[in-house]
Amino acid sequence: MKIAVIGAGSTYTPELAEGLILESQVLGLQELYLHDINSERLQIVGGLVERMVRAQGSPFQVRQTLDRVEAVAGADFVITQIRVGGQEARALDTRICLEERIIGQETTGPVGFAKAMRTIPVLLDICADIRTYAPQAFLINFTNPAGMITEAVLKHGGVKAIGLCNIPFGLKSAVAKECGVSPQEIELDYVGLNHLSWVRRIYVSGEDCTAELLKKQAEKPANIPGLAFDPDFSRALGMWPNSYLNYFYLQDEMLAHLKEQPKTRAEVVKELEAQLLDQYKDPQLSSKPKELEKRGGAHYSSAAVSLIRDIHLNSGRRHIVNVRNNGALTDLPPDAVVEVTSVVDAQGAKPLSVGRLEAQIRGLIQHVKAYEELTVEAAVTRNYHTALLALATHPLTTSVNKAKRILDRFNAAHNLQLVKA
Ligand code: G6P
Repeated sequence: MKIAVIGAGSTYTPELAEGLILESQVLGLQELYLHDINSERLQIVGGLVERMVRAQGSPFQVRQTLDRVEAVAGADFVITQIRVGGQEARALDTRICLEERIIGQETTGPVGFAKAMRTIPVLLDICADIRTYAPQAFLINFTNPAGMITEAVLKHGGVKAIGLCNIPFGLKSAVAKECGVSPQEIELDYVGLNHLSWVRRIYVSGEDCTAELLKKQAEKPANIPGLAFDPDFSRALGMWPNSYLNYFYLQDEMLAHLKEQPKTRAEVVKELEAQLLDQYKDPQLSSKPKELEKRGGAHYSSAAVSLIRDIHLNSGRRHIVNVRNNGALTDLPPDAVVEVTSVVDAQGAKPLSVGRLEAQIRGLIQHVKAYEELTVEAAVTRNYHTALLALATHPLTTSVNKAKRILDRFNAAHNLQLVKA
């Protein structure tokens, strides 16, 4: 097996390497290609990955390359984890939104829109490489906003693709920890979109434990402010909401909280990354440093490696992933990408049927999906008016005038090459 990681200069990569080392035999992994456009970061992160692999008896070869085609050619899996514009763009976009008194968050709201507009063309370029040099490969996408990126790839990329997020895996692990069982014994009835999902029922070793587990507050990922919901609201909702739903359910409180912070999350992460990269340079270091847990992406390696394993083994096991809806959620278009439980085998991931959505979640899912659909269209056509409509459609946009100002500022800052047709 050959795996290519695009965006391997990410400080998260050692976590992925750790998971691949653990499962290398089951996977039959022979070559891990690490690609990035930033040679310095690739060398630092790649150097640590090489030492990690060597320390475990070199179960596979690690190769660093600045040439994307070399990384992709003949790969069985291509993992994409890129950040177009880096943390600087994330910080700038967040500040623009906060100045307009709109929630600024990397995936949720206009910052996610800006990231999608910058990133989708690059992902579609990567798809062109995969079509030419590794047509059999699966693209496993971690790049945010993961749902929209996966939708763009499945609609326009012409490759086999699955979108992955660490949150469902993290939720399973948290429930397992709470109940003192292994994550394999947990079954979640999980529905929604990436970063907009709910756990409707929780089964522990086949037994429905939803009522007692709902009384507990879910552990928040490191990157989300831990504001709690009112217990009566939680009871009325009757489901376990993804932490990102705080931005919708507590919009005022979250905005006030974000505005109070001296630094945006992007600025915090930038500092954290500088420290991590310094540690990674140490030639004595040959394992993932503990500090990496301060990033929001905990469990991302387990999610990726177990998904790759189950495709490779044609296992038919269930994973919560981002896939083409194909009628699983009857309230959404068939070509919309949704985050639901799917059966994974050598063909990819097939969503299990969900049917109609409960009234308390139906509207928000449809609303955000409409925004996502328009954003994907705008990213592909570069049509200014479609882009404006997308931003104006997002539920966190409180005024179309703000949407236009934000769009024009994004356009000026990043040269989004929008055309007024
Ligand atoms: C969560 C999300 C990821 C996101 C990460 C951000 O884990 O599921 O999609 O990339 O947080 O973490 P960061 O440390 O960059 O704020």
